[in-house]
Amino acid sequence: MKHWVKNGVVYQIYPRSFQDSNNDGIGDIPGIISRLDYLQELGVDMIWLSPIYDSPLVDNGYDISDYYNLLPDYGTLEDLKTLVNELHRRGMRLVMDLVINHTSNEHPWFIESAKSTDNPYRKFYHWQKGKGRKKPNNWMSLFGGSVWEYDETTQEYYLHLFAKEQPDLNWECKELRSEIKKMIRYWLNLGVDGFRCDVINLLSKTPGYPKGKLHLIRGHEHFINGPQIHKYLKELKKEVFDQYDAFTVGEAIFLKPEDALAYISFDNQELTMVFQFDHMSADNFFKWFIRPFKPRRLMNALTKWQDTINGKGWNTLYWENHDQPRVVSRFGDSERYHYQSATMLATVLYFQQGTPFIYQGQEIGMTNPQFTDLSDYQDIETHRIYWLGKRLGLSHKRMMKKIIYMSRDNARTPMQWDDTENAGFTEGKPWIKVNPNYPEINVRNSLANPDSIFYYYQKIIALRKQFPIVVEGSFKELLPKHQKIYCYLRDYDGKKLLVIGNFSDKDLAIPDLNDSDLTKGKLILQNYPQTSEMLKPYEARVYLFD
Ligand code: GLC
Ligand code: CA
Repeated sequence: MKHWVKNGVVYQIYPRSFQDSNNDGIGDIPGIISRLDYLQELGVDMIWLSPIYDSPLVDNGYDISDYYNLLPDYGTLEDLKTLVNELHRRGMRLVMDLVINHTSNEHPWFIESAKSTDNPYRKFYHWQKGKGRKKPNNWMSLFGGSVWEYDETTQEYYLHLFAKEQPDLNWECKELRSEIKKMIRYWLNLGVDGFRCDVINLLSKTPGYPKGKLHLIRGHEHFINGPQIHKYLKELKKEVFDQYDAFTVGEAIFLKPEDALAYISFDNQELTMVFQFDHMSADNFFKWFIRPFKPRRLMNALTKWQDTINGKGWNTLYWENHDQPRVVSRFGDSERYHYQSATMLATVLYFQQGTPFIYQGQEIGMTNPQFTDLSDYQDIETHRIYWLGKRLGLSHKRMMKKIIYMSRDNARTPMQWDDTENAGFTEGKPWIKVNPNYPEINVRNSLANPDSIFYYYQKIIALRKQFPIVVEGSFKELLPKHQKIYCYLRDYDGKKLLVIGNFSDKDLAIPDLNDSDLTKGKLILQNYPQTSEMLKPYEARVYLFD
């Protein structure tokens, strides 16, 4: 396992919403460069950029039309090279998004492939004849509806697991695989240090496209962890990533920790790490099927991943990204205990074993914007779901309630830098509305206040670097039945580290922790000015036992 991945902290940037430098309302690479000092002050080591490749932006860049060039909105290749140099000069690294399960329907490969059934690019995608007047099978898209789209020209269907503008690539095709490898090498040669691999466990589909079983995502058993997935990933690793010492973090949907080891165990490392989703369902059955948040469900998911992966592979630690709502709005209390709950959440997650990922704005406690107008949402998934819900007879009110809570745009509003117009993100018209709470929640305020969420994050990062136990220690949950308190012990080299967090807005008594006598530990982090017998609302503490 690479030392710098294990010990590093990654900061995710959503380029469109981070910092605009030329006032067209769209974040860009020069904007990112202008904020590197800020990121360095926070203490992060790597930045991951959501896609900046050329794209018609149906899914904000997760629909790529040219793998080799950037979307002009974001800047030029020269700008990107400057960013790489600026990062490397600071001892930091660059992680790019790699979207290789599908392309845009405007990618030249797809345009070619749609021309005729004997076009040389036909086999780059999944083209199928219908069954009589029916679609080839009953599989369902992750954005809702069928995965099959009919195309008049050749009177066949093509498969898309996401929007119809995102046709899936056919990984069985050897020529396609070599094109992808060539493209990855191109970016590695340019100095990129690693990749976040979009929906990577979807690459392989069961040959013959058999009918899917009854399920929320019908057909998933034929495209999640499909039959050839490990072959494809081993090939990429051996022929490309290993040649450059690059690391990979794969987004893996519906993955169980037991199955994760096939991807990430230290002895094969097809991928360096994966993003899992189990803890993200603490408040839903599946995304839009929302249920009340239960801390115990969240703790169980986190503990299970720690217990299963510990010693055999390496975890990722994340609360937010461009697909998830803001964590303080979701698992904390953004109104009454904004500081306390944001810092408690950071504490209980980032002292676990794994590499931390921080999403832009999380470090200042950005919240869901609560837009009540559907037209304020730009995200394709949000609009698809609204439309689907309405078709199923759900009311506007009911759908808006879901969207306000769960929409991906909750995390995509512009970064809040200061209290000037548009939060200092742009002097133009931002591509998506700014969260109206920017006059209070912004970077300038955070930096001016020694007791801000920002400085708490900075401290966590510094402690991870100071004490090897935070990176290396084993993991054991101490109160596995408690509904509101998350408490665990790390153990390494004769030392112990105890982390405890209160997931409620009440004072709670600390239960007996067996052999861990808190009075013997040294308190190295806390989110209240004083500690008492009780745990205060959303209180978090970290003790070190030498
Ligand atoms: C991943 C991305 C998401 C995108 C989808 C399709 O889940 O994180 O934003 O919509 O893949 O590419
Ligand atoms: Ca711009």
